[in-house]
Amino acid sequence: MTGQLDGRTAVVTGAAHGIGLAYCRGLAREGARVVLVDLDGDGAAAAAKDLAAEGFDVVDVAADVSDPASVAHCRDEVSRRAGEVDVLVNNAAVFATVPMSRAGYQDLPVEEWDLMMAVNLRGGWLMARAFVPAMQARGYGKVINISSGTALKGSMGRIHYVTSKAGVIGFTKTLAREVGGDGVAVNCIAPGSTLSEAEHTDDVLKRRSSAVSSRAFQRVQTPDDLVGSVVFFASPASDFITGQTLVVDGGACMH
Ligand SMILES: NC(=O)c1ccc[n+]([C@@H]2O[C@H](COP(=O)([O-])OP(=O)(O)OC[C@H]3O[C@@H](n4cnc5c(N)ncnc54)[C@H](O)[C@@H]3O)[C@@H](O)[C@H]2O)c1
Repeated sequence: MTGQLDGRTAVVTGAAHGIGLAYCRGLAREGARVVLVDLDGDGAAAAAKDLAAEGFDVVDVAADVSDPASVAHCRDEVSRRAGEVDVLVNNAAVFATVPMSRAGYQDLPVEEWDLMMAVNLRGGWLMARAFVPAMQARGYGKVINISSGTALKGSMGRIHYVTSKAGVIGFTKTLAREVGGDGVAVNCIAPGSTLSEAEHTDDVLKRRSSAVSSRAFQRVQTPDDLVGSVVFFASPASDFITGQTLVVDGGACMH
């Protein structure tokens, strides 16, 4: 740990579970104050309590990133309890905790398609709209959006999810161009299939293990494999990098 994020404040959405929680711990280890934002307010509070017990500076806020009023309330709460925000990690998604169907394109419910777009795409935009203007005013900030390797190669049976994650890449490039003049960097991480669930059921293990043979590094990917890339994009080491998508999947997708 180098303290490269000392004095910085990072907001992480989808922070109560899985990979988002690993990002929070990783950013906090580097010295950042971390705000855990999640639809599951109790989960975020419990995770924040654990991190605080480890000695980290954390705040939790319950919010639905797809809802403009909830995001506005979140921005006010963060401002009141954590001050200015330097880093925004748009990680919340319909994925495992809020589960998605894995049906073919003809069988997905319209309501689930709309929820997917509302959380995975509108959510990142609403959070950026709430937190990026203050970064622009200060002339410095970092936005890190979470896509998925599936957006680059396609994936059977979840066309709504993959479509939303492809949108995250376009969102990243366009926001990068819009705010680059004010010193705000916007980058994206595309994780491979990651063992993020708390319960490693046979079904989950089968799904995560099936990705192993396609990798240069032939092992199961865990949340900790992704933390370094988020810390990098949050840190001054990446100050001249923007609009990029970094694939972190052990060498499955090479492009
Ligand atoms: N696990 C993987 O294999 C994998 C692979 C590629 C990309 N990803 C991406 O990584 C991110 C984290 O994935 P994960 O595996 O930890 O999934 P997860 O479902 O465990 O975590 C998502 C979090 O987002 C929260 N959330 C859902 N809807 C929300 C809303 N409307 N407002 C606020 N919070 C909300 C959930 O409560 C949960 O804490 C997601 O963006 C996912 O798409 C995951």
